Amino acid sequence: MIDPNLPLQEIAQDAARKFQERYGRPPRWIVAAPGRVNLIGEHTDYNDGFVFPMAIERYTVIAADRPRPGAPDQVTWHCARTNQSAAFPLSRPVPKGEPKHWTNYIRGVFAGFQARGVDSLAFDALMLSTVPLGGGLSSSAALEISTATLIETASGQKIDPVEKALLGQKAEHDYAGMPCGIMDQFISALGRKDHLLLLDCRSRKPELVPMSDPGVAILIVNTNVKHELVGGEYAQRRRQCEEAARLLGVPALRDATADALEAKKSKMDETVYRRARHVIGENERTIHAAHGVRASNWTTVGQLMYASHLSLKDDYEVSCAELDAVVEIAHGIGIDGGVYGCRMTGGGFGGCCVALVDSARIDPLAARIAAEYKQKTQVKPTLFVSRPAAGATVVKG
Ligand code: GLA
Repeated sequence: MIDPNLPLQEIAQDAARKFQERYGRPPRWIVAAPGRVNLIGEHTDYNDGFVFPMAIERYTVIAADRPRPGAPDQVTWHCARTNQSAAFPLSRPVPKGEPKHWTNYIRGVFAGFQARGVDSLAFDALMLSTVPLGGGLSSSAALEISTATLIETASGQKIDPVEKALLGQKAEHDYAGMPCGIMDQFISALGRKDHLLLLDCRSRKPELVPMSDPGVAILIVNTNVKHELVGGEYAQRRRQCEEAARLLGVPALRDATADALEAKKSKMDETVYRRARHVIGENERTIHAAHGVRASNWTTVGQLMYASHLSLKDDYEVSCAELDAVVEIAHGIGIDGGVYGCRMTGGGFGGCCVALVDSARIDPLAARIAAEYKQKTQVKPTLFVSRPAAGATVVKG
């Protein structure tokens, strides 16, 4: 029932084997970067607010070498999961691929290194990923940060991890056309084993919060649905938040209070008001949840997760029937049944829910959630468990 996580070393060995088969020599470098799950703090990052994610034990691994002598000055990339290959020239700047093409994340990172004056970027590469695609677990950030780690390792020009996260975010904005915040790239670059990361997205100062209580586990429920609204709706939410901040006379919603919002309510569009109410409440919940994790107060953390989901569903309107179904099932099982809390995680409109559960009861819980979800939606979910994992790593360098 629970989908196992392959250990990083195994994925790396597999990637090396596949690289050898494809390119006829062993890889010179192997690097990896994880996906993430956000415990709480959703749609707050682009409002200069707080997020509380962890890296997961799901990785994008890249095995690479320089092209053979005399080969064209280009990047050749093979994706072993989808069995797709692509190549792009290293003109300045690297040309964009077709809209929505998977190489855009990679191209954008190469362009970011070019802009920093890093040359000799030609590679033969093969990637292998265990981060679910389109599941809201940041497969794109894992790709950006692993690509950046490859370039750093091969060029010997290390960059500060915060700069690396920003470079990945810029690639996503400029090449993939997704105006994302900083959370996903940040946690993929800076995650730490057995820690959640409380990030103040304004100061970009991370605080590592240990999460090693063996009594609780993070269960990730992939609804296996993705509604194709994501890009446009996301950009619209950003604009609504900016408008709310402007009406409230603050630089970002991070600076607004619930009282100030109520005082301006009659002068605001009702939708913009609700968007702002979500962000202001979510920032508070995130800070409280971090206190809860520090104190191992799982009941409180769980309640905050349910409150977050409700706010994302009703005020921010980024949930969907399938995500709501998972949260209802989890709530129905309740603390007595071993579930502390559950909410949608990531951008929304499909993808995954994150649940905080009693680790001793994980197997029957997963079986029950999967069965009830299938019955409600006719869709088979995928469930897995993850401890907080380390961020980007060089496996062979
Ligand atoms: C996506 C974005 C993040 C963040 C979340 C919502 O994952 O990439 O920057 O805004 O949505 O919290």
